[in-house]
Amino acid sequence: MVDPVLRLDAVGGLNESTIVVTGGAGFVGSHVVARLLAAGATVKVIDDLSTGRLENLDDSLSGGLTGADIRICDVRSAEAANAIRLWRPEILIHLAAQSSLPASTRSPLVDADINIRGTVNVLDSCAEAETGLVVYAATSAIYGTVDGDALPVAETAPIAPTSPYGLSKATALEYLDWYRDHRSVDYTALVLGNVYGPRQVGPMCGVVGLMAQAAMAGADLAIFGDGHQTRDFVFVADVAEAVTAACTAGGVGLVNIASGVETTVGEIAGLVSQAAGTGALRHADPLPGEVRRMALDISRARDLLGWHPRTPLAEGIRVTVRAARRRDSIKEAS
Ligand SMILES: NC(=O)c1ccc[n+]([C@@H]2O[C@H](COP(=O)([O-])OP(=O)(O)OC[C@H]3O[C@@H](n4cnc5c(N)ncnc54)[C@H](O)[C@@H]3O)[C@@H](O)[C@H]2O)c1
Repeated sequence: MVDPVLRLDAVGGLNESTIVVTGGAGFVGSHVVARLLAAGATVKVIDDLSTGRLENLDDSLSGGLTGADIRICDVRSAEAANAIRLWRPEILIHLAAQSSLPASTRSPLVDADINIRGTVNVLDSCAEAETGLVVYAATSAIYGTVDGDALPVAETAPIAPTSPYGLSKATALEYLDWYRDHRSVDYTALVLGNVYGPRQVGPMCGVVGLMAQAAMAGADLAIFGDGHQTRDFVFVADVAEAVTAACTAGGVGLVNIASGVETTVGEIAGLVSQAAGTGALRHADPLPGEVRRMALDISRARDLLGWHPRTPLAEGIRVTVRAARRRDSIKEAS
């Protein structure tokens, strides 16, 4: 088997590495694809476009990605398995998922099918393709409800999900352990905080994306619940950087990727309306299954990946709102 770390060039780039990104046309995935191309990797994408969009890859298509590098198919399918076996990537980044917590509570079966069966299909294909490293996108939802005095949560905390989404993502971690121990597919699972940034669109995207879209539409910014609930926000370009760092570090297991800081949803609403110069705030019913407080301890990411977040929250939100405005004006013009 090829050790992925041995395929890195002397400056830690990813030249000559073939990397498959599942979910590469999605919000996080499209930023990851662009970052990996910039690092010199040969990148392939598997995505069924259920929430992702090909236009998210426009920059990458003018930066080295070709149409033949994109396979539009379901990660649960034989077609996805065949593509992985054909491409024989040194590294696979598994981002394709049902990624909405509310959707998972409405349809736990669909969530489990995509997030568990899809992951097993991908891991099985990686084993056959002798892929040495899988970088997996986990979520802070695997930690469930955490007491305030236990924040920020470290990777050693109990895995105790309280939603079907958290459960399916936590179950995938068990399979990652099994494939590492029995099929020589090593892994790094990045536990992502609340990722925000350009291209986060759609009715089921995160709170910053929803608020930016509402502000652009001239609608009120909805705060679910009292707005005092906290989350740990991290800018998408910083996440793409963390994924790239994970590709050069070998398999290190669970690593939190976030800011380490609690921010209330009310504060986010204030920052979005400030950046947009518009947007009244409106309270709506709390979302079922939501945890009250969250912040992640990111010292392991610093120690093992040499990674830390660089984008201050207010700046990241300004960039996000600017991108939403640009998207809206392009839509209007066309
Ligand atoms: N955005 C966040 O705040 C956040 C936080 C924690 C973890 N994550 C994880 O990061 C990953 C990426 O999330 P995102 O926010 O970019 O979401 P996203 O919905 O934009 O991206 C998911 C991508 O996977 C594709 N996809 C979904 N089901 C598929 C299937 N069955 N087969 C093939 N492709 C499929 C979608 O079309 C989409 O392009 C997910 O695994 C998610 O659980 C995201």
